[in-house]
Amino acid sequence: MAMRRAHGEPPQLKGKWLFDPIFSDSDFESLRQWCSDDDPRPLVVEVGFQRARFARAFCEANPDIRYMGFEVRTKFCQDANEWLERGGIENARLALVDARECLPLLIEPGTLDCLYAFFPDPWWKKRHMKKRLVSNAFAFEVSNLLKDQGILLIKTDVQGYADWAETELRAEPNYDVNRLADASAGLPLTQRERKCALHGRPTWAIEAIRNTRVSNGVTASHDH
Ligand SMILES: C[S@@+](CC[C@H](N)C(=O)[O-])C[C@H]1O[C@@H](n2cnc3c(N)ncnc32)[C@H](O)[C@@H]1O
Repeated sequence: MAMRRAHGEPPQLKGKWLFDPIFSDSDFESLRQWCSDDDPRPLVVEVGFQRARFARAFCEANPDIRYMGFEVRTKFCQDANEWLERGGIENARLALVDARECLPLLIEPGTLDCLYAFFPDPWWKKRHMKKRLVSNAFAFEVSNLLKDQGILLIKTDVQGYADWAETELRAEPNYDVNRLADASAGLPLTQRERKCALHGRPTWAIEAIRNTRVSNGVTASHDH
C-alpha cells in the first residue's frame, strides 16, 4: 500500500516512466514490481537525478540494467521523463518522492546492486546537517538493501562534505570504504560534475562496498 500524506494535492504527473508512489497505489505497485528481485537484471538506484544527465547516458550505455531514480522536485521529474522518452530509454523508472521514505518499501533487503548519490546535499554547512541525505542511519539502511559486495557511491565537490561523508560511512561496519582516486568512478558525468570539470573544480568520490553476509543477514565482521 502506498504511503499517503494527510495534506496537499497530488501533483499531476505526466510521463511514460514517471511515477508517484505517494499518491497512487498503482504507481507504487508498478515501482515495486520494477524493483522486484524476480527480475534478474541488476538494479541501480540514483537519488537526486535532477536533470537526468547521468541517467540518460548510464541507461544508454547499460541497456541490461534496471535504473530506478528518485527526485523530490516535480519539475525535474517531468523534464527528466521527457528527455528519457525522447532518448528512447526503456530501462529507467523515475519516482517523485524522497528516497528515504520509499527505498525500504520498494526494495527487498539484499537485492540492490548499487545506490548512487551524486552531489546530493546542497546543505553542506554544519547547521543544515539534519537536512542531509547522507548520514550514518542512511548508510545502515542502504547496507540492508544492498547485495553482498553491492556498492553505495557518493560524489561531492565540497571537500569538507567528502571528509564528513567518509567518516559517516566508515562508522557503518557493514561496509569497506574507499576514497576513489578517479573521482568520476568511471561513470558518465552528472550535470554538476560537468560544470565542475568545465571550471576546473575538484570533485571527490567515496565508495562503500557491502560486506559479505555470513548467514541470516549477519555480517562477517559485525553484528549490528
Ligand atoms: C545538488 S543536486 C545534484 C543533482 C545531480 N545529481 C547532479 O549531480 O547534477 C541534488 C538533487 O538531489 C535531490 N534530492 C536531495 N535529497 C533527495 C532525496 N532525499 N530524495 C530524492 N531526491 C533528493 C534534489 O532535489 C536535487 O535535485
